[in-house]
Amino acid sequence: MPRRSCLAVVLAAGEGSRMLTSRPKVLHRIAGRSLLGHVLAALRADGQTEVAVVVSPSGEAVAAEAKTAVPGAEVFVQSEPRGTAHAVLAAKAAIARGADDVLVIFSDTPLVRSQTLAKLRQALADGAAVVVLGFRPADPTGYGRLVTQGDILTAIVEHADANAKQRAITLCNGGLMAFAGAQALKILNQIDSDNKKHEFYLTDAIAIARRMSLKAVALEVTEDEVTGINTKAQLANAEAMMQQRLRQAALDAGATLVAPETVFLSVDTKLGRDVTVEPYVVFGPGVTVESGATIRSFSHLDGAHVGKNAIVGPFARLRPGTRLGEEVHVGNFVEVKEAVLEAGAKANHLAYIGDASVGAGANVGAGTITCNYDGVAKHRTEIGKDAFIGSNSALVAPVTIGDGAYVGTGSVITQNVPADALALARGRQTVKEGWAKRLRGRKSAGKTKPQKSGKAANADVT
Ligand code: UD1
Ligand code: MG
Repeated sequence: MPRRSCLAVVLAAGEGSRMLTSRPKVLHRIAGRSLLGHVLAALRADGQTEVAVVVSPSGEAVAAEAKTAVPGAEVFVQSEPRGTAHAVLAAKAAIARGADDVLVIFSDTPLVRSQTLAKLRQALADGAAVVVLGFRPADPTGYGRLVTQGDILTAIVEHADANAKQRAITLCNGGLMAFAGAQALKILNQIDSDNKKHEFYLTDAIAIARRMSLKAVALEVTEDEVTGINTKAQLANAEAMMQQRLRQAALDAGATLVAPETVFLSVDTKLGRDVTVEPYVVFGPGVTVESGATIRSFSHLDGAHVGKNAIVGPFARLRPGTRLGEEVHVGNFVEVKEAVLEAGAKANHLAYIGDASVGAGANVGAGTITCNYDGVAKHRTEIGKDAFIGSNSALVAPVTIGDGAYVGTGSVITQNVPADALALARGRQTVKEGWAKRLRGRKSAGKTKPQKSGKAANADVT
C-alpha cells in the first residue's frame, strides 16, 4: 500500500491566561524543551509529516520556536480567538492541498506519544473519516464528552452545553483529532458558532460527519498522554510525568540511577551503559555521558560531553561547551565552561576553567582560576599536556602553559610559560626572626600606642 501523506495542524493561538505569565504558554519548558517543541518532536518522529502551526497575531516568538524545531513548518495567524475549529481553518490553504491524513493537535499537550499519532492515522487508513483521542479523567469537569453507540462515535458535547445525562459520561475528548483529508474541509466548513460560548467548536465535526454518513471513532488512551497545560501546577505535574518516563528510559538503556526520583533529565540526555548517576543530579539540555562514567551527587550539567570512565562531582558544574575526555576527574566546586579537558586531566577541587583547553594528564590545582574575561572580551587559556598548575593560581588569559610546565602555587600568570619550565609569579616570602616575640614584649611593657585607623599592625615594631 502506498504511504499516506500527512499534514498536522498545530493549534498555538490560545492566550494561556491561566498561567499568569508574560511568556507565551507553549514556550514554557518541561525536561529542557518547550511544550510546543515536545508536540513537534512527536510529529517529527514520523519524518514526513508536513507541519502547519496556527499562532495568534502576537505569536512571533511561538512561530520562531516552531521554525527552529521544524524548519519547514508553515505558520498561519488566527486573527482572533473564535474557537478551535476557527483556528484550524486559519490553515485552510494547507489543508486544501489535500494530504491523505490531517491531524489536529493542541500545542499544550506535550506528553502525546508518536505511537499514538500513528494509531490515529491507522484508524483513518482503516476507513474512519474522523478519529478522536478519548480518555477517562479522574475529574471530567470542563472536557467535551464522547457520545458513542457501540464502536461508533456519534457526537461530542462540550461540558458547558451538556445535560446531566451527558455529563455523567466518563469518556472525554482528549482534544487530538484526525480527519481523512478528502473530507476535512467539507466537514470543517459546516461548523458554526451556535453554542453557549459562541465559538466555532472543532468537536462539532463529529455530529456533522454523522449527518454526512461518514464514520467517526474514538481511540482511548491513558490520561497522561492528553494532559493539557493551563496552569503552573499542571506544568509542574507534566514535568513530573515526563521525568518519570525519561528516568525509566535511562534505566532501560543500562544506566544506574541510585535514586531515580532525584535525578532530573532533559529529553535529549544521553547516558551510556554502566553510567552511574548518584542522587540529586540535574541534566540540562545537550548532555552526553559515555559508558562507565560516574556523575556524583549535586552536580549540574548543561551542554556538556563526559567521556568514558570520567568522574564528575560531587558538586560540579559543567556548562555549555564542556568536553571531558576519558578518565577525566572534575571534583567538588569546580565549574567548567567552553573548555576541553583531554584524557586523564584532573581538576579536583574549587576551580574555574572557562574558555580553555587542558591537555591530557594535566593537573589543575585547587583554587585555580582561568581569568577569561577582561570586562570587554573573552580570552582563551591553553594548558599543555602533563602540565601542573599549583593551587590558587590565576591564569590571566590569553595565556599558554606549555606541555609539562609547572606553575608555582599562588601565581598570577600573565605571560606564556614554555614547555617543561617552572613559572613563579608571587611575592617573595620574607621572614623576620623573633618579630612576634618582640611585639608581645612591647605589649606587655605597655609601650604600644592605640592603633591609628589604616595603619599597618606591624608598622610600629619592625
Ligand atoms: C478542548 C475541546 C474539549 C476537550 C479539551 C481537551 C473544543 C471545542 N473543545 O476544550 O472537547 O475535552 O479541549 O483538553 O475543541 N485554540 C486556538 N484558537 C482558539 C481557541 C483555541 O488556537 O480560538 C487552541 C488553544 O491554544 C489550545 C487548543 O486550541 O491549544 C484548545 O483550546 P482550549 O481553549 O484549551 O479548549 P478547551 O476548552 O480545553
Ligand atoms: Mg484546554
